[in-house]
Amino acid sequence: MMKIVMINGQNHRGSTYHVGRILIDEITGDKAVTEFFLPRDLNHFCLGCYTCIDDETRCPYYEEKHAIMQVVEAADLLVFTTPNYCLAPSASLKAFIDLTFTYWFPHKPRRCMFDKKAVVISTAAGAGAGSAIKTVARTLIYWGVPSITKYGIAVKAMNWQGVSDKKKAKITRDMNRLAKSLSQRTIPRVSLRTRFLFNMCAKMQKGNMGSGPAEKQYWEDQGWLGNERPWKTK
Ligand SMILES: Cc1cc2nc3c(=O)[nH]c(=O)nc-3n(C[C@H](O)[C@H](O)[C@H](O)COP(=O)(O)O)c2cc1C
Repeated sequence: MMKIVMINGQNHRGSTYHVGRILIDEITGDKAVTEFFLPRDLNHFCLGCYTCIDDETRCPYYEEKHAIMQVVEAADLLVFTTPNYCLAPSASLKAFIDLTFTYWFPHKPRRCMFDKKAVVISTAAGAGAGSAIKTVARTLIYWGVPSITKYGIAVKAMNWQGVSDKKKAKITRDMNRLAKSLSQRTIPRVSLRTRFLFNMCAKMQKGNMGSGPAEKQYWEDQGWLGNERPWKTK
């Protein structure tokens, strides 16, 4: 059973959602899909209070975040969609990224991320889908996700109804191809860049240059201050 989570950086089912949904529908085999919509399912901004550094459960928005992140942690495939808003992801998706910043390598990365695959999808009216994707893809690198596929497309429309049949056919072809490869369920390889970044953060924690004792203890408990690595124990 492939567990798929779809994190939509918008509440509406527009062009970007449809691209993601075509992909998911084309994936063959048993699958369980959970969809989240932002801001519907997480309608907050990070307050910068840093309570999460000591204890993530004390974030004022922990309950909503946890409802999403426990599905993310259990998933095999993460599908992120965001329209390109002013050459960036939507504000609600950026808020989600900020609110989950403790998942980044310098803080408390999660072991479960190191064998996941992700797809980041953005549509733009004209150019610039790539710049929206970049921020999300970089986040996933810092979460430890080893396989990240980016798909950006200029749809020349304000909504899915306005997208030409020719463009829809191209999207369907592209998503078919990607779905075929994802359906094979190969095990992704952790890149040298990820290993390097992670090792740098381990050195930082070891040298007490992390964000505090709770973080260092977390790294210690995982065995990462020694020779354990999240990709080795998989
Ligand atoms: C606030 C806002 C900002 C936008 N900024 C850009 C932009 O910088 N470049 C661009 O090509 N399209 C821009 N667009 C257009 C959308 O990216 C485009 O219509 C997209 O396909 C909408 O996706 P959706 O149907 O999933 O909402 C913007 C739209 C909105 C509402």
